Amino acid sequence: MSFTLAHLSDVHLSPLPAPRVSDLIGKRITGYINWLRKRRRAHDRSVLNFLVDDLTAQSPDHIAITGDLVNLALEEEFARGRKWLQQLGSFKDVSFVPGNHDAYVRQAVRYAPQWAPYMTGDNGVVGFPYVRRRGPAALIGLSTAIATAPFMATGRLGEAQVKALGPLLDALKTEGLFRIILIHHPPVTESQSHKRLLDAWALVEAIAAHGAELLLHGHDHLHMLNWLTGPDGTRVPAIGVPSASAAPGLSHDAAAYNLYAIGGGPGAWTCQMTARGIGPGGGIVETGPVPLLAPA
Ligand SMILES: [Fe+2]
Ligand SMILES: [Fe+2]
Repeated sequence: MSFTLAHLSDVHLSPLPAPRVSDLIGKRITGYINWLRKRRRAHDRSVLNFLVDDLTAQSPDHIAITGDLVNLALEEEFARGRKWLQQLGSFKDVSFVPGNHDAYVRQAVRYAPQWAPYMTGDNGVVGFPYVRRRGPAALIGLSTAIATAPFMATGRLGEAQVKALGPLLDALKTEGLFRIILIHHPPVTESQSHKRLLDAWALVEAIAAHGAELLLHGHDHLHMLNWLTGPDGTRVPAIGVPSASAAPGLSHDAAAYNLYAIGGGPGAWTCQMTARGIGPGGGIVETGPVPLLAPA
């Protein structure tokens, strides 16, 4: 019997609650103008609802969301984000890591506890990296969410998370678990430098030394697949999904999510990926399954 994980990202919940004038300080002013001009058309609530209905009908064993649940990190957005998460599923069945839009300004940290149950590790601690064991999988949640200057969308893991990651990956391998890293920013990207993960090299190095079976990310709003180098000649797929609310026909890929069917066991894992997304006609189009890992 295989275990199925669904991955969606960059929900960018809309509509945006009307910000108070006092909210529009610093970076939020440019962000709000950007929202009115472009983003509110790009992120469509009806597209998101349609996609989530399809995902729910697939009855995955677990759902991973890799950040950017909201847009300007307004207090009201955090409350709406919590409600949306609760409708999607229990915190036991849904794991979340934050993105740059969830930490849009430094004050946002105050509201983050609203989503804490979805970022709590098996040890009951809210923090990063967290570990959640589900079926044969270990979900390792990392945070790259930092408040940045206007027009910047960079992320950073920081020394503490990088230092903790290696021993954690080793321990989870010893436990015989299928290790899945959840992170908002991609470790490998062609995007411009003001959107990148600043210490991506440290993550790539940790994976090269300690390995992982799968890495899932968001942020670039595109279908992406890059192969990272693991230890002893292994390869680790790093896979990104488009924004879950992306209206079709615009600059980025249309809304989609991926399903991962994980089977086998230590040393002989299998993992098949199926993508389901909004097609040109507005219906759901399925691609796959594609075997990512197969026994040698
Ligand atoms: Fe995003
Ligand atoms: Fe992002």
